[in-house]
Amino acid sequence: MDAESLEKSIRDDIGKADSFETLEQARIKYLGRKGLVTSLLKNIKDAPPDEKPKLGAVSNRLKKLAEELIEERLGALRGSRVGSRFYKPPFDATLPAHDGNVGHRHVLSQVLRRLKDIFFGMGYSLASGPHVELEYYNFHALNFPDEHPSRDVQDTFYVTDDILLRTHTSPVQVRYMEEHQPPLKIIAAGRVFRNESVDPSHAAEFHQIEGLYVDTDVSLADLKKDVEVFIQQLFGAKTRIRFRPSFFPFTEPSAEVDMSCFACQGKGCSICGNAGWIEVMGAGMVHPNVFRAVGYDPEKYSGFAFGLGVDRVAMIKYGIDDIRLFLGNDLRFLRQF
Ligand code: PHE
Repeated sequence: MDAESLEKSIRDDIGKADSFETLEQARIKYLGRKGLVTSLLKNIKDAPPDEKPKLGAVSNRLKKLAEELIEERLGALRGSRVGSRFYKPPFDATLPAHDGNVGHRHVLSQVLRRLKDIFFGMGYSLASGPHVELEYYNFHALNFPDEHPSRDVQDTFYVTDDILLRTHTSPVQVRYMEEHQPPLKIIAAGRVFRNESVDPSHAAEFHQIEGLYVDTDVSLADLKKDVEVFIQQLFGAKTRIRFRPSFFPFTEPSAEVDMSCFACQGKGCSICGNAGWIEVMGAGMVHPNVFRAVGYDPEKYSGFAFGLGVDRVAMIKYGIDDIRLFLGNDLRFLRQF
């Protein structure tokens, strides 16, 4: 067959192929191991030397032509669903992914990461504990008296009489101290649960992060220093802090920590409710009874603890006015961060 008629028959056969099977037959006919174009290429080596270049050029052109026509035909067959009843759209793993929805970290995870980062930089390491906790760790070992209101089912989700969903991250302190000797400097972070009636500033699930430092001769001054460094890293170097007397069963003395309003620098504005100060955390010196519960000598060791709401920090930082948005899974909200 001369080159011209070979080309014509390639075009005819491939053009006529109306299924994957007939197209494959055409491919074998021309490009298979014993195919017409393949043999042409194989014959080059036996041709007289002066014909070789021409023969080479012609056979390579036909090979390329056949390959291109098959590719084209394949595309058409795929598009038209002609052919096999068992046709499946081809999956091409080499195609670039279409840029649909690329997710990102939840705003609370972002804030939590930032908080952890700051504390890691200050020498704290991470400790963790269970969400479903023994009443002993959540309350008793932390010096909560039996009649404390938070021990009521009104305020706490009980699983059984002595198992509950942790109401704060402080039980992690006790678990950690039971296993380790001072000096220690840890943070505990995660989800906590309270039987709240839900409104814009109360949720039944929220997040806390807290710190604990125990050594010999730890003082209130050490607490103030770490709280100040932390707050200034988070809200800026100009931020001031103040301690107000407060009460927690597991710290004595205890304090609420306020920071100067980042929006008005303490002058008073709508963000701080004209107070100039924003309440950010609870803190205090570890109560001797907590040390006794974990077998530390309160005469030998002293320490401080502080705890804050991650949701609350996110609300302050981003001006979010409803805590329920965090767990709402509304992308219109989440995409803003
Ligand atoms: N656990 C306290 C709470 O949930 C916060 C806190 C932690 C206060 C550590 C002081 C020290 O309210």
